[in-house]
Amino acid sequence: MKILAIETSCDETAAAIVEDGRRSLADVVSTQIEIHRRWGGVVPELASRNHVVQVMPVVDEALARAGVGPDALDAIAVTSGPGLVGALLVGVQAAKALAAAWEKPLVRVNHLEGHLVAAFLSEAPPTFPYLGLVVSGGHTSLYAARGFGDYQLLGQTRDDAAGEAFDKGGKLLGLPYPGGVAIDRLAKEGDPAAIRFPKAIVKGADLDFSFSGLKTALLLHVKKHGVPEGKGLADLCASYQEAIVRALVEKAFRAARRLQLDRLVLAGGVAANSRLRAAAVAKAAEYEGMSVSLPPVRLCTDNAAMIAVAGTQAFLRGERAGPELNADPAWRL
Ligand code: KG4
Ligand code: ZN
Repeated sequence: MKILAIETSCDETAAAIVEDGRRSLADVVSTQIEIHRRWGGVVPELASRNHVVQVMPVVDEALARAGVGPDALDAIAVTSGPGLVGALLVGVQAAKALAAAWEKPLVRVNHLEGHLVAAFLSEAPPTFPYLGLVVSGGHTSLYAARGFGDYQLLGQTRDDAAGEAFDKGGKLLGLPYPGGVAIDRLAKEGDPAAIRFPKAIVKGADLDFSFSGLKTALLLHVKKHGVPEGKGLADLCASYQEAIVRALVEKAFRAARRLQLDRLVLAGGVAANSRLRAAAVAKAAEYEGMSVSLPPVRLCTDNAAMIAVAGTQAFLRGERAGPELNADPAWRL
């Protein structure tokens, strides 16, 4: 079974062809990072316009790389939410048009489900049930994943997403967009204990996250001391990153213990963070029988292959979307 998936929820125009929900035959990602960099973040209108330009070339490229024609496809899957409405609409309209022209069934996929199941494309795919930590530019959520299509939301951020905390922090420090990547790189030379940032505690809901206080603490620090250079900047990056990572790892393992889940799967762009990956592995080593799945970075950041994995399972369950399919920017998983 071959599924073509299209993903345009944020600033990556992506198309992929995945076989049997496991093997990626083509995984094409056209990133707009250079376009948004000069504005210091994603500009929604620019994202939509560039998706319009890129979406068909990216689909053509995926078919070419997979060496298949439209006839070989069993269905088309598309991200219809959550995300930027104008960006989502481009992918949804393209997928609907192709499904109609090629007479293929269409299935809609939740972007977060895509992240949660991306690890099934890795060499050591996880098995259900597992605890999924989805950490991206727009989301920070903990899910108990019990099977395809069976997810329980356990906790989420009350304000900024972890990726937003990285990106806004990077912007404050004058680093290039996306801040997460820049902070990760600089932090490697820094001391994570140099500056003590406040712990992100949310009263009452102990599996929820909050990162806005941390961002304010960084702002106050910079107002007081200025933006340092050299080793000072590396220390600041390492300390700020450490505060984000500490909150993520602590809550993920708390949730895993509470639900007696012995597998943790990291997902989303922030799961590419080298410190988060190392800290999750180190923490798992403290618990008997606990394992951590770290998908390759390419599967963590936005891509369409993960949408194809979720789309394949939705297709097998008999889910279909019709020509009335619309973007659903706030679709909750
Ligand atoms: O999943 P993703 O590609 O797009 C969204 O759905 O948001 O995640 C993008 C986010 C950005 O905030 C970016 O700064 C962050 O992932 N990111 C990282 C790293 N690589 C990407 N954050 C920290 N460390 C990284 N190495
Ligand atoms: Zn994403």
